[in-house]
Amino acid sequence: MGSLRISLVFLCFYSLAFCLSVSGRPATFLQDFKVTWSESHIRLSDAGMAIQLVLDQDSGCGFASKRQYLFGRVSMKIKLITGDSAGTVTAFYLNSDTDTVRDELDFEFLGNRTGQPYTVQTNIYAHGKGDREQRVNLWFNPAADFHTYSILWNHHHIVFYVDDVPIRVYKNSGRVPFPTNQPMGVYSTLWEADDWATRGGLEKIDWSKAPFYTFYRDFDIEGCPVPGPTNCASNPRNWWEATSYQALNAIEARKYRWVRMNHMIYDYCTDKSRYPVAPAECIVGI
Ligand SMILES: *[C@@H]1O[C@H](CO)[C@@H](O)[C@H](O)[C@H]1NC(C)=O
Repeated sequence: MGSLRISLVFLCFYSLAFCLSVSGRPATFLQDFKVTWSESHIRLSDAGMAIQLVLDQDSGCGFASKRQYLFGRVSMKIKLITGDSAGTVTAFYLNSDTDTVRDELDFEFLGNRTGQPYTVQTNIYAHGKGDREQRVNLWFNPAADFHTYSILWNHHHIVFYVDDVPIRVYKNSGRVPFPTNQPMGVYSTLWEADDWATRGGLEKIDWSKAPFYTFYRDFDIEGCPVPGPTNCASNPRNWWEATSYQALNAIEARKYRWVRMNHMIYDYCTDKSRYPVAPAECIVGI
């Protein structure tokens, strides 16, 4: 026992990541998050381990992490609105909250009419520049069950995962803007956006189906909190910086190709009307 404690202290000293991961995650909602928009539309359940977001004609709602983080991995399990969810958007994102030089990593789940596929839109802002939308249709019904959505952000790349499938990779090649020095908070919102969300705004919300519900559980943030221990973010011993997280492994790469071939419905990289010349990060090898 004594030596275990000493070695834990020793490990904590050398690796904050280990120290954080022994704290028994996933955490309860209130440990890491606070409600930011419409308290009355967010309900805790399961002893604070799960929450329910409500959208009705009065309001949507949102929550945010209490702290900001520099590098790490954020994941949560989400069960999206069942049935007719056209015109609704559930978002899960990281944001530096800095107006002009914003860094932001977005997951947006765009609802659809009953039986039509949900779309996941991702976007990346680095040093204030966004407009990097990609869209994939999900290969399962995300309202039928909980699925894990996560964002890995280290010095080498940013990867968006749906369960264990990478749906987007953005590399830090040194030749494109990459978020490296601004910590980001973790946010989620549920709101109506029927002016653009579903089939470009053609499909409106059917309020007779309201209220709409989204469910969350298994909140897991592992990263360097800011303010927090100095030099945490540059510590190569953080687990998310390890060799196995610096690039997709062969299995992940195969899954990623499969998504791009079979489920990608929009990629700004190939949108010639917006970008006659493809942005640098779109060029293979960069
Ligand atoms: C909704 O379903 C239509 C028809 O299948 C599809 O074209 C569209 O991409 C889906 N998603 C959204 C968000 O419009």
